[in-house]
Amino acid sequence: NVTSRMNCDPFTFPDCIAISGAQGEYAGLAAIKAYLNSKGESSRSVCLIPKSAHGTNPASAQMAGMKVQVVEVDKDGNIDLAHLKALVDKHKASLAAMMITYPSTFGVFEEHIRDICDLIHENGGQVYLDGANMNAQVGLCRPGDYGSDVSHLNLHKTFCIPHGGGGPGMGPIGVKAHLAPFLPSHPVVAMQSINASSSLGTISAAPWGSSAILPISWAYIKMMGAKGLLHATEVAILNANYMAKRLEGHYKILFRGRKGFVAHEFILDVRPFKKTANIEAVDVAKRLQDYGFHAPTMSWPVSGTLMIEPTESEDKAEMDRFCDALLGIRQEIADIEEGRMDSRINPLKMAPHSLACISSSNWDRPYSREFAAFPLPFIRPETKFWPSISRIDDIYGDQHLVCTCPPMEVYESPYEEKRASS
Ligand SMILES: *Cc1c(COP(=O)(O)O)cnc(C)c1O
Ligand SMILES: *[C@@H]1O[C@H](CO)[C@@H](O)[C@H](O)[C@H]1NC(C)=O
Repeated sequence: NVTSRMNCDPFTFPDCIAISGAQGEYAGLAAIKAYLNSKGESSRSVCLIPKSAHGTNPASAQMAGMKVQVVEVDKDGNIDLAHLKALVDKHKASLAAMMITYPSTFGVFEEHIRDICDLIHENGGQVYLDGANMNAQVGLCRPGDYGSDVSHLNLHKTFCIPHGGGGPGMGPIGVKAHLAPFLPSHPVVAMQSINASSSLGTISAAPWGSSAILPISWAYIKMMGAKGLLHATEVAILNANYMAKRLEGHYKILFRGRKGFVAHEFILDVRPFKKTANIEAVDVAKRLQDYGFHAPTMSWPVSGTLMIEPTESEDKAEMDRFCDALLGIRQEIADIEEGRMDSRINPLKMAPHSLACISSSNWDRPYSREFAAFPLPFIRPETKFWPSISRIDDIYGDQHLVCTCPPMEVYESPYEEKRASS
């Protein structure tokens, strides 16, 4: 049984489905609050969250009526245990929960995960495990075993639901038995196994959220099988380590575990290039377009860096092309550092290069058109992806929204035309 192998056994999988990871967080924390209230511990309201957490964590905690206390992380990306102990001690009487991401957003498996969960439980708190990084766990370990009381699964991250363009997500939660009576209910549709009188109430307008997309994850799990899912996890971790290995020595890999490995993702620290070449993460991200790639996550979870998560679905040739592109870019940075290329007008600062830019009659840059558009042999005219526009000021664009208020005629005319023609 694939599902129980994944992480069910110490969990009850309820009828509760939230429409995003964040909403799962909210549902889980609200269940914790309802559970604590039922024990007469309504004064417990402090939620500990590591600094490395996703922004949804503190937002969800606030929404659930908790007070957020931030736990420091050490230079290796692990939770600062001394600081955690001090905070737990200070808030012992009012500790409600800790939210923890495993493996962490810094791409490392927290070695003290069990000790951390035990510490929270010993002091009357509950553990919320942010399950966004299940891609590094499915088939290998179960959050319930190492101490989580409630966890969400981002089906749009680990379980194959397309996530592009703000499409619908799904964040079902799993809870241990003691939290089950407090799970969300719905006033219109009775949910099996939900006790309406102890339930925390309703969190989704539709009883099972965006349920129409659930068959995708179901089919994925069925088609992969237990072995396939385990293999996907192993390959996701292997791929991230393969890429980290190819890039180390050229770029700094920000965090690694004690044995030098990363989990399913890793952070490239490009911040030093600001000093040496006036190059920032955004320049690398834009130049990657010329090499035919969409940039990886930028400035999260560490500002000014790039986070790479190849997943299990990229083949070796594609990962090699991506690494080659990053190594090509590293060489371009070296050219600036060593004075062979201008520090203001260079392929990185001027990226991306659109077809209009490359084919314009005026070309007065200190590098060739060919190098701008075809920097490596694998980028060929037949398959070239052309960025539709050259460099724009992203921040200006984000901060200056344009309201278009079309006149009524715009709405009127198609209907009028239709009437006239019919
Ligand atoms: C994506 C993510 C979330 C939030 O999930 P959404 O579905 O985007 O709301 C929470 N925590 C981590 C670590 C994430 O990566
Ligand atoms: C439902 O919850 C109420 C209130 O907590 C409790 O008294 C009751 O026994 C529960 N019913 C079931 C069937 O668990």
